[in-house]
Amino acid sequence: MARTKVGIINVTGYAGLELARLLHPHPEVELAWVTGRSAAGQKLGEALPHLADIELTIQAEPGPAELAFSALPHKSSAEAILPLLEEGIRVVDLSADFRLKDPSAYETWYDFAHPAPALLEKAVYGLPELHRPQIGSARLVANPGCYPAGAILALAPAVREGIIAPDIIVDSKSGVSGAGRTLSLATHFSEVNENTLAYALEGHRHLPEMVQELAGLRTGPPPQITFLPHLVPMTRGILSSCYAPLVAGKLAGGEKGQQELKQLYRDFFKGEPFVRVVEQPPQTKQTWGNNLCLIYPTIDLRTDRLVVIGCLDNLVKGAAGQAIQNMNLMLGLPETTGLEAIAVYP
Ligand SMILES: NC(=O)c1ccc[n+]([C@@H]2O[C@H](COP(=O)([O-])OP(=O)(O)OC[C@H]3O[C@@H](n4cnc5c(N)ncnc54)[C@H](OP(=O)(O)O)[C@@H]3O)[C@@H](O)[C@H]2O)c1
Repeated sequence: MARTKVGIINVTGYAGLELARLLHPHPEVELAWVTGRSAAGQKLGEALPHLADIELTIQAEPGPAELAFSALPHKSSAEAILPLLEEGIRVVDLSADFRLKDPSAYETWYDFAHPAPALLEKAVYGLPELHRPQIGSARLVANPGCYPAGAILALAPAVREGIIAPDIIVDSKSGVSGAGRTLSLATHFSEVNENTLAYALEGHRHLPEMVQELAGLRTGPPPQITFLPHLVPMTRGILSSCYAPLVAGKLAGGEKGQQELKQLYRDFFKGEPFVRVVEQPPQTKQTWGNNLCLIYPTIDLRTDRLVVIGCLDNLVKGAAGQAIQNMNLMLGLPETTGLEAIAVYP
């Protein structure tokens, strides 16, 4: 049977080139075209030598396909996607342009008026662990941001079961590829190497996604979240340490409570192919290049606080791998197809 044709808009960014790497060996789809503004007309292997096995010339414009991925920056992505949807092409958008349901949030957080607010209700937030049935039939899937993917998964079981007060801290450390491939002073080697810094203390753009998705798990006021991202000197990976006070009486005290918490997390993620509740605090190197999110929940017994560590590769479960997981669901394929790789270690 002919393989399903798919395309990538903007293959020259980190998210786009990671999509190409993962789609090339996928047994059920054919990567039919890739676009790239600055590299149009070049062979893919000329612009990106590690992708030389993929015999495609980078195009200026999208071609025919059943499904397209957009890996453009926000605002440009919505503009590129609207004509594709009109042509009947299904889309997985890796940008933020269709993640938030409230149109006014785009002016607040992204400094632009949304060009298609009516589509925001129709777009499905592409986290299969929360929205699997809707993703399967969606025409437009909004792939989660890299920080929210790990933080939402780490907190979802606790929020849904009401075991924590809605007063949450998400403290995240990201590798530098999270900032993209576009050159900037902040990501020069000599700025990043042997350095660690907190940024966006006044409010990071990924915060409203976390609030939106966690609020959807439980009735009542939305959770208050303090989200503090940090840049650390590594290429890939995000480690999020999440904290919240436990609600008294929901879990037993001491070791019994620890076991109840772990069971609650294991039950929530039962059967999930890409979320693993682990027995030791996870490390970013355990997810390099693969689509897993590793989660370690525990209780700080001295303060009665929930502590959950979530860990993933920002370019895989935080971007391209997640997008392919969504594509598999949209095309009715087994969800794990093409995503079985084990992490690269050390
Ligand atoms: N990096 C991550 O970990 C990550 C994770 C999840 C989601 N995302 C999302 O994925 C998207 C891409 O991110 P990225 O990290 O891959 O970015 P990136 O590496 O910085 O790439 C941006 C690319 O976009 C091109 N570009 C910029 N403005 C454009 C425009 N108006 N039209 C066409 N091309 C344009 C640039 O290429 P030229 O200027 O050379 O044409 C550049 O190659 C963003 O929306 C981002 O939020 C990224």
